[in-house]
Amino acid sequence: MVSDHKIRVRLEAAPDRSYDIIVKPGVLNDVPGFLKAQWKGKNIYLITDSHVAPLYGAGLLRGFAREGMNARLFEIPAGEASKREAIIHSLYGKLLAAGVRRDSLIIALGGGVVGDVAGFVAATILRGIRYIQIPTSLLAQVDSSVGGKVGIDHRSGKNLIGAFHQPVAVYADPSVLGTLPDIEFRNGLAEVVKIAAALDASLFERIERDAVTILQKSPGVLARVVKDAAGLKASVVESDEFETGLRKSLNVGHTIGHALEAVSDYTLKHGMAVAAGTVLESMIAVEMGILDRANFDRLIHLLQTLRLPVAPPKVAKKKKFFSALSVDKKSEGGRPRFVLLNAIGSCVVGIDVPAELIRKVIAR
Ligand SMILES: NC(=O)c1ccc[n+]([C@@H]2O[C@H](COP(=O)([O-])OP(=O)(O)OC[C@H]3O[C@@H](n4cnc5c(N)ncnc54)[C@H](O)[C@@H]3O)[C@@H](O)[C@H]2O)c1
Ligand SMILES: [Zn+2]
Repeated sequence: MVSDHKIRVRLEAAPDRSYDIIVKPGVLNDVPGFLKAQWKGKNIYLITDSHVAPLYGAGLLRGFAREGMNARLFEIPAGEASKREAIIHSLYGKLLAAGVRRDSLIIALGGGVVGDVAGFVAATILRGIRYIQIPTSLLAQVDSSVGGKVGIDHRSGKNLIGAFHQPVAVYADPSVLGTLPDIEFRNGLAEVVKIAAALDASLFERIERDAVTILQKSPGVLARVVKDAAGLKASVVESDEFETGLRKSLNVGHTIGHALEAVSDYTLKHGMAVAAGTVLESMIAVEMGILDRANFDRLIHLLQTLRLPVAPPKVAKKKKFFSALSVDKKSEGGRPRFVLLNAIGSCVVGIDVPAELIRKVIAR
């Protein structure tokens, strides 16, 4: 359900775990006041990374101090390398030493890495305590902060250790995207295009129309795009919290995207891999007669306007690429299953694509 600034995530399986996502420029400054009313007397542990701490962490701590609330900040190094066991254990140690209790609150302030790490700590410490997401990257605002998937990487692969643990609230402030590096911003835009292409033709049209102001990070335009994209993800999560069916529609572009990331040894950014993956998977859809050419051209045009990649990166030519494809989490019996666009704003799941066709499309 969506109101002006608020999206209510109503979880079918467990209404008592339902929560709000607030998307509003400036909401970051309101968080201490909001929590003052709800969390009186309880300890707050703010987890953030080394880039976000000086930008927004210190200010948020001052906000809590002004409200007379007891909040402490813990910083992890910025970057994917922090999604590992050693970081989790170090946070367990610090939180336990600081007196964390079952009624304490964790706040994840940062991009998807902080959200996944702090969320996983919240899911597991003392058998699980409550946490709030304050996503500060575009990717985190439209994607990773919504849905309750939390976790870390393992040397055998990304995101292999984790849990489903829903936050009690998400506060997304589009004005913090002003400090986000350009590459990170476009990384998030790729997910916005993906979700619009998969589920919402009218959002896709609006992105086409507003592409220039989006790239200029105009806060008002961004707030609407973030709210709509996060709202789409929320509506999928509402009916499929544990990813058994509908949530698979979020995997457009990700079957090939994940394989591209893996063969690049994760030097390729996720969003860039997803953009290229969406293009390649859509070429497959065109070849299979599932998607028409005009819609494919619209997709390419929008990605180009947003300065996202439309051609496969060099790593797609590597032999390892095909083995990476079949170990994708969405594969069944060792064969990858694709989620393919069949129009702008709609997709079909569970498509078995012949390996020959994948080779043909990559070779082009
Ligand atoms: N849980 C899920 O459902 C889900 C979904 C998608 C992705 N993810 C995970 O999310 C992670 C990627 O998230 P990400 O792209 O946000 O990466 P990230 O957390 O590494 O953030 C990207 C970079 O931007 C910096 N940053 C964040 N906000 C900033 C701001 N406002 N100003 C300046 N710098 C800022 C960070 O410090 C970092 O250097 C991956 O680990 C991925 O697996 C999880
Ligand atoms: Zn993704």
